[in-house]
Amino acid sequence: MWSADLPVRIMIMSGPKGPRSTKSSSQMPPLPHLRLGVNIDHVATVRNARGGTLPDPVRAARIAEAAGADGITAHLREDRRHIVDGDIETLVRELKLPLNFEMAATEEMVGIATRHRPHAACIVPEKREERTTEGGLDAAGQHNHLKPMVARLRDAGIRVSLFIEADPRQLEAAVTLGAPVVELHTGRYCELEGKAKAAELERLRKAASLCGRLGLECHAGHGLSYADVGPVAAIAQVRELNIGHFLVGEAIFVGLAEAIREMRRIMDAARTEGAAP
Ligand code: PXP
Repeated sequence: MWSADLPVRIMIMSGPKGPRSTKSSSQMPPLPHLRLGVNIDHVATVRNARGGTLPDPVRAARIAEAAGADGITAHLREDRRHIVDGDIETLVRELKLPLNFEMAATEEMVGIATRHRPHAACIVPEKREERTTEGGLDAAGQHNHLKPMVARLRDAGIRVSLFIEADPRQLEAAVTLGAPVVELHTGRYCELEGKAKAAELERLRKAASLCGRLGLECHAGHGLSYADVGPVAAIAQVRELNIGHFLVGEAIFVGLAEAIREMRRIMDAARTEGAAP
């Protein structure tokens, strides 16, 4: 079992092709494996642009599995703009990898999740008009709404995570709600530059460390690319990254398998060759 005492390794900022230079600290114990969840929503976005069945998100999931993904993530949005109900049904039936079902905290989604019983359900905030998930879930402010939903998902044997900002108040709320996992929103970190980016990374590090002390499993995701993933992958307490849009975009140029393999390589390098700042 990992803990907050594990060393936090810091990767020197990387270029578009990943880390340029790292210093390795041979005395450091190896960090636990960092899982890669591949989000296939935007394969469905392309499919839905024309209607019909191609490209098939389930085929993308199989390619991801062969290329080294540890899990598949799919978000069934209220408006079904990308993943649709039939995709979830097929993924649950045919996937060998664990499925992380991203869902809004609604009765409809809890019903779908408890019917299909995916390995995990990640509760995300959802606004119909947004382009993608903006900001984290207000787990603290929505306690009474979320508590029974988390309980029902857990009772169905689903591992529940909450997609939250790196804010101690939200982490403590996750504990109160009985969620064993949180996913830290990396969107802001990815968008920022310079000192503001470094400060946001520090906030993520502190939150990951607090996860260790609170007994929460820490995941992270949103907006990650080759250029941004290293420093997040080097945070010892982070056990899983969920990445989608960048990989599907990169797949246009190099193919999905190659895009995933490169992401995996950068993550593994950050894990094993992390460096002091
Ligand atoms: N994690 C969560 C909770 C998300 O909602 C998303 C986007 O669906 C991701 C990770 C993946 O983000 P991106 O597609 O920007 O890599």
